[in-house]
Amino acid sequence: MTFQLACTTSELDPEEALQVILPDGTGANVPVAVVRDSDGTWHAIGDTCSHQNYSLAEGDVEDGTIECWKHGAPFDLSTGRPLSLPATQPVPVYSIEINGGDVLVDVDATL
Ligand code: FES
Repeated sequence: MTFQLACTTSELDPEEALQVILPDGTGANVPVAVVRDSDGTWHAIGDTCSHQNYSLAEGDVEDGTIECWKHGAPFDLSTGRPLSLPATQPVPVYSIEINGGDVLVDVDATL
């Protein structure tokens, strides 16, 4: 389990998301959407929509979900599950910690 610096807390306001690329334990680059929910809660999920590989970080964040900008599938930020079509498969949810002003994500630890 290795937490890596993804961004700082000052980079995202509530209802915003940011794409970061972090290496996993095998050295592969993992696209991650770091998301700050409406209530300020932080989440880290796989950034690639399970429908057609578009970046979820460009979608709308609201009340526990992020909506894919391309075709509108909303994903639950806590479980990674799509809540409606056209996506049918979940995206990974990663461990995230806030340490001072740092946002740390472990891409080897899915929840
Ligand atoms: S690419 Fe995300 S819903 Fe189609």
